[in-house]
Amino acid sequence: MSGRHTLDVALGDRAYPIHVGPGLLAASALWRPALRGRHVLIVSNDTVAPLYLERVVAGLEGLRHAALVLPDGEVHKTLDSAARVFAALAALGATRDATVIALGGGVIGDLAGFAAACWMRGIDFIQMPTTLLAMVDSSVGGKTGVNLPAGKNLVGAFHQPRAVIADTTVLVTLPAREYRAGLAEIVKIGAIGDAAFFDWLEARAEALVAREEDDLVRAITHSCAHKAGVVARDETEQGERALLNFGHSFGHALEAECGYGVLLHGEAVAIGMLQAANLSAALGQAAAADTKRLQALLARIGLPTAAPPHLDPDALLARMALDKKNRAGRLRLILWRGVGNAFIAEGVDADTVRTVLDTRSAS
Ligand code: NAD
Ligand code: GLY
Repeated sequence: MSGRHTLDVALGDRAYPIHVGPGLLAASALWRPALRGRHVLIVSNDTVAPLYLERVVAGLEGLRHAALVLPDGEVHKTLDSAARVFAALAALGATRDATVIALGGGVIGDLAGFAAACWMRGIDFIQMPTTLLAMVDSSVGGKTGVNLPAGKNLVGAFHQPRAVIADTTVLVTLPAREYRAGLAEIVKIGAIGDAAFFDWLEARAEALVAREEDDLVRAITHSCAHKAGVVARDETEQGERALLNFGHSFGHALEAECGYGVLLHGEAVAIGMLQAANLSAALGQAAAADTKRLQALLARIGLPTAAPPHLDPDALLARMALDKKNRAGRLRLILWRGVGNAFIAEGVDADTVRTVLDTRSAS
């Protein structure tokens, strides 16, 4: 299945293509049509830019363009960095027909997309995701934003890109741990709504870990197609889109409680998915055998499958109570009835959740 694949996110007059395949950054004929005006600002970071910026710049001949290279890291996904993007757009003389290109992982994509949503009340942007996580999750669907000291992603906007260019060639330089964290989001797609895809992931786990191109392109394309369908049906997360957060309420609490940077987002999601599966079993909604299947697959990928010991379950629960999905002070979680069948559970009993969170006896 190697070669180039194109999917569409069907959002009426805001529909856009997702292109997946090797060598796409250098294939400017593919993405130049998405640039409507004369001004282009590329936003990247000091890890990705030295590797890939030139490939993009080479495709911008004839346009007025500039690059803003920010320091790498989640700590820079801030309003201050957004202000740097605004200053760069101003220096470029960017008008309402300008385009921002986000070249990097989810941090750069969320930040640059947010800045594009704000500049002159909204200009075009193109996602050029360079991590596996960004290719299968954050670059698709238009969630953009920055962090505040009070919490992650608290300020943001829904702002859809004009195109997503997922060049799989760039994944060769992605560190193994980051790559595995991206695989967690791919497993999530099978877990929530596609049992046949989950079967296929079980069959191809080692090939995926080895980054075999055919399997990788297939996994990315399939995951993007699933997410594109969900986003087209529920752009602003009034219902079904919440299923994409399987494992995330648990995972966000773990990330915060361990201290940001200890667990990668995808690692926390892997553990969180298992906690959601355990909770589903404890509530009689799913068989424990499904949890075991999920655990075995995540372990083969090399992802963590247990929360660090000694975390305080009440502290984790308190963090989960702040989750954006909750309604009217009641816990709203994504659970499953087994592989491929996630659902939204309202008013989940906090004591049962605490039992699942309590790993202290396991140490
Ligand atoms: P990241 O952007 O921090 O990238 C991870 C690391 O890999 C960074 O050090 C980066 O510089 C480096 N890197 C990126 N591409 C590389 C490449 N090709 N070769 C070598 N190094 C490379 O992290 P991420 O996991 O991509 O994204 C996490 C962010 O995404 C978080 O801020 C999270 O909140 C956000 N997110 C957003 C959504 C959404 O729907 N908008 C969904 C999931 C996650
Ligand atoms: N990452 C979840 C979503 O885009 O809705």
